[in-house]
Amino acid sequence: AAAEKDGYPSFMEKEIHDQPSAVGDTLLGRLDENGSLTLDEIKIDESVLRSIDKIVVIACGTAAYAGQVARYAIEHWCRIPTEVELAHEFRYRDPIVNEKTLVVAVSQSGETMDTLMAVRHAQEQGAKVVAICNTNGSTIPREADAVLYTHAGPEIAVASTKAFLAQITAAYLLGLYLAQLRGNKYKDEIASLLAELEAMPGKIQRVLDEVEPQVKELASSMKDAGSVLFLGRHVGYPVAMEGALKLKEIAYIHAEGFAAGELKHGPIALIDQGQPVIVIVPSPRGRDSLHAKVVSNIQEIRARGAETIVIAEEGDEAVREFANHVFYVPESPTLLQPLLATVPLQIFAAELAGAKGYDVDQPRNLAKSVTVE
Ligand code: G6P
Repeated sequence: AAAEKDGYPSFMEKEIHDQPSAVGDTLLGRLDENGSLTLDEIKIDESVLRSIDKIVVIACGTAAYAGQVARYAIEHWCRIPTEVELAHEFRYRDPIVNEKTLVVAVSQSGETMDTLMAVRHAQEQGAKVVAICNTNGSTIPREADAVLYTHAGPEIAVASTKAFLAQITAAYLLGLYLAQLRGNKYKDEIASLLAELEAMPGKIQRVLDEVEPQVKELASSMKDAGSVLFLGRHVGYPVAMEGALKLKEIAYIHAEGFAAGELKHGPIALIDQGQPVIVIVPSPRGRDSLHAKVVSNIQEIRARGAETIVIAEEGDEAVREFANHVFYVPESPTLLQPLLATVPLQIFAAELAGAKGYDVDQPRNLAKSVTVE
């Protein structure tokens, strides 16, 4: 078993380190030299794909956070209204789905019962389903109309890491493919985004090489934290929720992810002396001043006594003044930042769980795949 872990103390840590290749392998063979995208697996008629007027992403757990990242990317690149819903909520609310809806079912295992039932329900209403899945030949891809496999390799740890990054990568490919197919104003950006995607495995490796030791040091000093809050905005919001989920799942610490813009509508009341808050900061190069807004959130919580732990882009000096700790990740286009910003949060949870003496791979009460309702 030690050999299977490549010398890491847990499968989760091994899988965190597998992420550069999980993302690289998911891109492999899908981009051609002249910068366009071929997704032969999407065996749905191009005329159908051109006519869809809505996308609904369904998933559970970590896969649903990948779905939330997908929504920001797909809506921006394709201009197709996109919803994300937990599979178990979707199927019981009489959702409006028809032949013009494309359902994207995201599932590492391909066996999650709620997601499978939601797929069936959508197909009964006439929708086409694309599965994003990590397990060859599992039930959801078998029943879907098409499948885009993530090539993360087998994921053993219950808490999902490399499958999450691979799901996000596959969702970007799907979004860019639909944008390419439907021809729109982002056409010219597609080639440059594909090049940016190809650079991501190297950048994830840099996070592992450079940021991991710093994150581990902080995590091992936080064994006694009673609760940790996570704040993010835009694609940083699902990253915040995923960071909180990891901490609950394996370190059994109360954690919650909030949209940074919601701070004044409630969460700020939770801030008192020493409350750790992890903030995912958007790129200062972004077009829409979100960076300044999140920096001012950090300032607000710091003034109320929070211990601020900041994930920011390299070169972002503005965050330093209000941060107790800063972890820098390489530059990337805003929509791709989750592939980098998530990694320190995974390391943080794994290290904290290990420091508390918990079984990082087999957390209490949880199963890798929930095959019952
Ligand atoms: C369980 C696992 C999670 C996973 C979720 C969805 O809760 O513990 O790690 O995100 O199921 O699983 P799926 O296989 O559908 O991605």
